[in-house]
Amino acid sequence: MENLDEIKSEITGQVAAAADLDALEQARIGALGKKGRVTEMMKGLGAMSADERKEAGQALNSLKGDINAAIDARKDTLEGAHIDAQLEAERIDVTLPARRISAGAIHPISQTIEEVVSIFGEMGFTVAEGPDIEEDWYNFTALNIPPDHPARQEHDTFYVNAIKDGQRMVLRTHTSPVQIRTMQTQKPPIRIIVPGRTYRCDHDATHSPMFHQVEGLMIDEATHMGHLKGCLIDFCRAFFGAAELPVRFRPSYFPFTEPSAEVDIGCSFEDGTLKIGGGDDWLEILGSGMVNPNVLENCGIDSTKYQGFAFGMGIERIAMLKYGIPDLRTFYDSDLRWLRHYGFASLDVPSMVGRAAR
Ligand code: DAH
Repeated sequence: MENLDEIKSEITGQVAAAADLDALEQARIGALGKKGRVTEMMKGLGAMSADERKEAGQALNSLKGDINAAIDARKDTLEGAHIDAQLEAERIDVTLPARRISAGAIHPISQTIEEVVSIFGEMGFTVAEGPDIEEDWYNFTALNIPPDHPARQEHDTFYVNAIKDGQRMVLRTHTSPVQIRTMQTQKPPIRIIVPGRTYRCDHDATHSPMFHQVEGLMIDEATHMGHLKGCLIDFCRAFFGAAELPVRFRPSYFPFTEPSAEVDIGCSFEDGTLKIGGGDDWLEILGSGMVNPNVLENCGIDSTKYQGFAFGMGIERIAMLKYGIPDLRTFYDSDLRWLRHYGFASLDVPSMVGRAAR
């Protein structure tokens, strides 16, 4: 038999020197694996006499025990070192300042539409929509604006190349055509609110070629001017958050309503700053009226049985008034600083409207 003490110190030396778990496994296989050094020596026991085998067997078993003990010890050490290294690598410095989460903000146009829809929603109005590229008939003719009507000039219409039924299509100049589309497809009673984009060839501090309107329409058998007034007064007071807000109905003219009224809210200009509510000035905020019987008939609704009211307002305008935004063009500049200033946190619901946290 070879000198077991030498073999032992050689193998345990390899075990102790194993730099990682893989190297340790190699050392184990080299000694105790199927063809390992100690295993081979065990195989030699069969050829020995009974006495020799007893002595050599004991010695080899004790060698195996020592090697296994050395392997276990080395394994503990290596695993401990591995955990220590992992702890070190994944160390978290809880004293570092938190990373800023940059949350988006709701654009004031979206916020204002949401508020208007929610106020009229509580009065039983539902949202309707129509196409931005509209047929001339829906945008004008059906609304009692025939081809030679002067109101067509006032609209600064964008005409597009598409032609339908011999007519140039237009970018809708107001949301009113959705009144027509709704009356053609729904039977009264009708109560709709129509937020959407509108287009006119116009551009300065208070006009943009693309802007937004909200249209309203209510049709029923007994709807009258008192409903129009009550509904719009309630809306103005809820939207501007002023229960006593003065609201004035001023006679006006629209081809699609008769009689027509423009709606003004009370305000004051003190030292050049606008204050909504009180004071002796007035600001126009929307157009309205009782739906012209011609319009009802154009949609196949019996004007001797049904009547109703309609209204339309510019979203940018009421947003500028409510949130003190001085220049209309800034709505579309996509300036992040502007949006952080005037935008809204996504959880601002209309009943608890407030500026975005910043
Ligand atoms: N369509 C009109 C405009 O763009 C606004 C308007 C006025 C709509 C009176 C209406 C209404 O429904 O009844 O200037």
